Amino acid sequence: MKILVTGGLGFIGSHTVVELIRAGHEPVIFDNLYNSKIETLDKIKKITGSDVKFYKADLLDPDSMETVFKENKFDAVIHFAGLKAVGESVQLPLRYYENNISGTINLCKLMEKYGCKNIIFSSSATVYGAPKSVPIREDFPLSTTNPYGTTKLFLERILTDLTVPDKDLKVILLRYFNPIGADESGLIGEEPNGIPNNLMPYIMQVARGILPELGVFGNDYDTPDGTGVRDYIHVTDLALGHVAALKRVNTGGGVDIYNLGTGTGYSVLDIVKAFEKANGVKVPYAIKPRRAGDIAMCYADPTKAKEELGWEAKKDLETMCKDSWRYAQSLTK
Ligand code: NAD
Ligand code: UD1
Repeated sequence: MKILVTGGLGFIGSHTVVELIRAGHEPVIFDNLYNSKIETLDKIKKITGSDVKFYKADLLDPDSMETVFKENKFDAVIHFAGLKAVGESVQLPLRYYENNISGTINLCKLMEKYGCKNIIFSSSATVYGAPKSVPIREDFPLSTTNPYGTTKLFLERILTDLTVPDKDLKVILLRYFNPIGADESGLIGEEPNGIPNNLMPYIMQVARGILPELGVFGNDYDTPDGTGVRDYIHVTDLALGHVAALKRVNTGGGVDIYNLGTGTGYSVLDIVKAFEKANGVKVPYAIKPRRAGDIAMCYADPTKAKEELGWEAKKDLETMCKDSWRYAQSLTK
């Protein structure tokens, strides 16, 4: 299939482009390079041996996007492009609502104009808010606590509404849990700007000696060791979830929703220990107060994706830690 991948040079997008090529699809990338680098395109070529068509285009500039639709006929869109920093979204809500929501509306208008009837959307476990229990199923109640999460929840609703008048439109909402790791080539991975907010990128900077120690946000949660528990999933497994979701394309209109997680929860200290063991590198840490807005436990029930997409995460925590570290070591300080 010919697939438009918005945000295709970003962390999850670049790994998905690699897996799409390996599966025999033809991805076309558009990205405004706000949070990614053009060099990633060459790295994708190095990994796959294939050239990928790239457009520097912006969701907020419909003319630049229309060129992409004029020059290609897409079977489906995989829509990663968006802003994703939770803390920043609290400070800059308008920027988040404009980029993520107005940008997606612009994209949907072009899909309508050019007759593209399938969209796979990057949603997040953040739409479950503070879940009443774990593991989390797709039919759990939804709520959010910050503008980033609200953009995901609103976009899920907007995309769902579009399927009411357009009976041929297929919307696939993929709710990601916590992606970490990197392609095993070590060529592509996650490279956040500034001081990272998320656990694995922070550990990486401590292990590289850039930051002195990890702050563990709370050890008094109701969890086995008191630290927060999350469902960490290898980004390559997550990418393969998108390839699997393409099976649902052109199966009639409507909305399909899937959790993409492993179903296993690990605590912050589990991750620190697993990282140290896998890579033989020390990660000094200190217990700090809880981070505002954090929940004790969040992990998926991934049964639906297994049953309907034939997909399940395969890579274990040791592999995630090794692959994250291989990529991190390739970065210049
Ligand atoms: P990323 O920042 O690495 O990738 C997003 C890409 O979109 C970047 O390359 C950026 O330059 C591009 N982009 C942003 N705004 C754009 C615009 N207006 N026009 C064109 N391109 C634009 O992020 P990621 O981690 O790869 O996440 C991809 C998607 O998955 C996002 O929608 C994110 O919210 C969602 N998500 C990510 C996580 C996570 O933990 N990484 C978890 C759940 C959901
Ligand atoms: C993040 C996002 C959330 C998204 C989810 C899945 C934030 C604030 N939230 O949350 O919107 O849905 O990923 O992609 O970015 N931790 C530390 N020290 C650190 C960093 C994190 O102890 O320096 C702990 C946290 O308290 C948490 C765990 O590590 O228990 C994971 O944190 P993080 O990587 O930020 O992910 P989420 O909290 O799940």
